[in-house]
Amino acid sequence: MPKIQIEILEKLYEIAYSLAKQLKENPEFVISSGSGFSGVWDKFNILQRISFNEINSMPTVNVEGHGNEIVVIQHSGKIGLVFTGRFHLYEDYSIEEILIPIIIPCLFGVKNFILFNAAGGLNPKFNVGDIMIIEDIINFTSKKIQNIFNSSFLTDKDFSCDIFAKQWISRTEVMLSENKISYHKGTYIEVTGPTYETRAEVKMFRTFGGDAIGMSTALESIAASLLKTNVLAFSIITNQLKEVKKNGISHQEVLNAVLSKQSDIEKIIDFAIQSIDLSYM
Ligand code: HPA
Repeated sequence: MPKIQIEILEKLYEIAYSLAKQLKENPEFVISSGSGFSGVWDKFNILQRISFNEINSMPTVNVEGHGNEIVVIQHSGKIGLVFTGRFHLYEDYSIEEILIPIIIPCLFGVKNFILFNAAGGLNPKFNVGDIMIIEDIINFTSKKIQNIFNSSFLTDKDFSCDIFAKQWISRTEVMLSENKISYHKGTYIEVTGPTYETRAEVKMFRTFGGDAIGMSTALESIAASLLKTNVLAFSIITNQLKEVKKNGISHQEVLNAVLSKQSDIEKIIDFAIQSIDLSYM
């Protein structure tokens, strides 16, 4: 059982209880997706769809291109919960609300998380539509997840600098290579948004060692890692920050870039689920 502050658990248990009452199967993995992913799930074996509105105390998502439901899928003999919408910092959600797709499944015993995001490409070698396996993250949100955990949990031995599951990454990479799906590996920076970066910020974030930048995933990954689960995360590069456009980037461009890679994204999901090793922790 994760050591989360009791008053936060009280709120989250309400959501967990309401969801548990509706679920017909025990989930073994979770996928958290975002902008532009809504069409992807139709290609999978869907067992159930549960709208966020049908879950007590569950917030709703108000960003175009995000869904507002949990889709229960079965793939490669495993049952998974797909959170089709995310709660972002820029919409003023609390840290515990942002972490709902991580903490609630942890309460159910889920140990495997696959996270996707749409991201701007800081690395000049990246192009729109490229896929990056996240090897490491920089939390540039100024938000800390520590407050939601009981301080006795946050000792040195509980915190690992290796947030992402190396063996899971390797197994997925083998399948990507065998299927000739090209990908990068790199560091992802989470910022609060919702505005995109200025030219000076892009320069700074590149100097910091960032390859891709977006408005999710780092806080979720740190929490999932603290909760002793396996995390595999991907960025879909939706815009290149080689040169910052005068009029910025439209949300539509972000959605279009994800849609253009839908078939590769479906394969990546397939490989990521296939390479979950339920015995490996
Ligand atoms: N910056 C931050 N978040 C993003 C970007 C970006 O350029 N593209 C998609 N999400």
